[in-house]
Amino acid sequence: MNFQLTEEQLAVQEAARDFAQTELLPGVIERDTEARFPTEQIQKMGALGFMGMMVDPAYGGGGMDTISYVIAMEELSKIDASASVSMSVNNSLVCWGLEKYGSEEQKQKYLSKLATGELIGAFCLSEPEAGSDATSQQTTATLEGDYYLLNGTKNWITNGSSASIYLVIAQTDASKGHKGISVFIVEKGWEGFIVGKKEDKLGIRGSDTHSLLFTDVKVPVQNRIGAEGFGFTFAMETLNGGRIGIAAQALGIASGAYELALAYSKERKAFGKPISQHQAIQFKLADMATQIEAARLLVFKAAWLKDEGKDYAHASAMAKLYASEVAMNVTVEAVQVHGGYGYVKEYHVERLMRDAKITQIYEGTSEIQRIVISRGVLK
Ligand code: CAA
Repeated sequence: MNFQLTEEQLAVQEAARDFAQTELLPGVIERDTEARFPTEQIQKMGALGFMGMMVDPAYGGGGMDTISYVIAMEELSKIDASASVSMSVNNSLVCWGLEKYGSEEQKQKYLSKLATGELIGAFCLSEPEAGSDATSQQTTATLEGDYYLLNGTKNWITNGSSASIYLVIAQTDASKGHKGISVFIVEKGWEGFIVGKKEDKLGIRGSDTHSLLFTDVKVPVQNRIGAEGFGFTFAMETLNGGRIGIAAQALGIASGAYELALAYSKERKAFGKPISQHQAIQFKLADMATQIEAARLLVFKAAWLKDEGKDYAHASAMAKLYASEVAMNVTVEAVQVHGGYGYVKEYHVERLMRDAKITQIYEGTSEIQRIVISRGVLK
């Protein structure tokens, strides 16, 4: 067993840390307050290779391993979880699925632009009545000669308005249950496709979360990924990897809040000494550091299993379940260490606390992760 990062992984860590400090930190409070998407920052992340880190260089990607990806996700999420969720969805849910299951024509047309960040992608599974119960898709795709007619509504779509390419899961044969679900590549601007309401959220406010409306949208048959009926498996497998990205995001939110609390505790004096000299604060810091380290080991283990080509569905669910709980615990404690200052925007920890909550909800709630884990335990 080797816990040492490679030279390349350390370089990724340094580059991501540097980018987060110089490009994401300035304006992060304003973007959160105004619920403004980090457009410029995402463009720069694309230019630096963060939007398609694991994609084969033949398609414009970085050709890196999953460990490098989680390292970058952690560093960027310490500062701006709105930017990092955009990156995670593009890498894990869109590029990965396209690279693994897309046709050569689809990869040439779409993947190369998504991997470089020239275009942003979105993954469209959730619906008003189908969140955790992903089998209950109401969106339909009806074959009419050489195209499908797509009808329905998607909800809670990350990159909802900033994306140009959407992977849309839809029912092609309702009589077959989850085996009657397919997945399609849909382009923004196609007739009948409308980007709907933007959600006004508690956290990750810089991320643009929208509903999407499809009315008789003509989707060419060649834009279906895989065979008819493959969509549910596609979604499940894609989410297995997506959960590693969100676990790394949760880890970053936790470690960002911890680093702020640690630094503050050394500066802030009370009762004649820095508060870090009081055992009440020392115990908090010890618990935070321990939880973060345990979460990091789970996240890295899941990433390693994926890189080794081993089954990682249960490990990714464990990593997401635990890291998101740690993100909640640690950010609440970081606010507590800051006292009243923690409750105001200037000190960043209140934003991290709000951002943490979504990691227990998207790409499968904590309850869904427990279902996935218990199935693995009981099989
Ligand atoms: N990996 C691979 N395959 C899986 C799987 C997994 N984790 N979970 C289920 N499957 C397969 C099963 O093996 C089965 O395949 P076969 O028919 O070939 O045997 C098939 O899928 C159906 O499985 P189930 O009968 O177990 O299906 P279910 O209806 O009981 O649901 C579930 C299973 C795990 C609860 C699933 O519905 C699920 O994961 N729900 C959560 C969906 C989710 O995470 N949504 C998040 C939205 S995306 C998002 O948030 C993106 C964003 O923008 C940030």
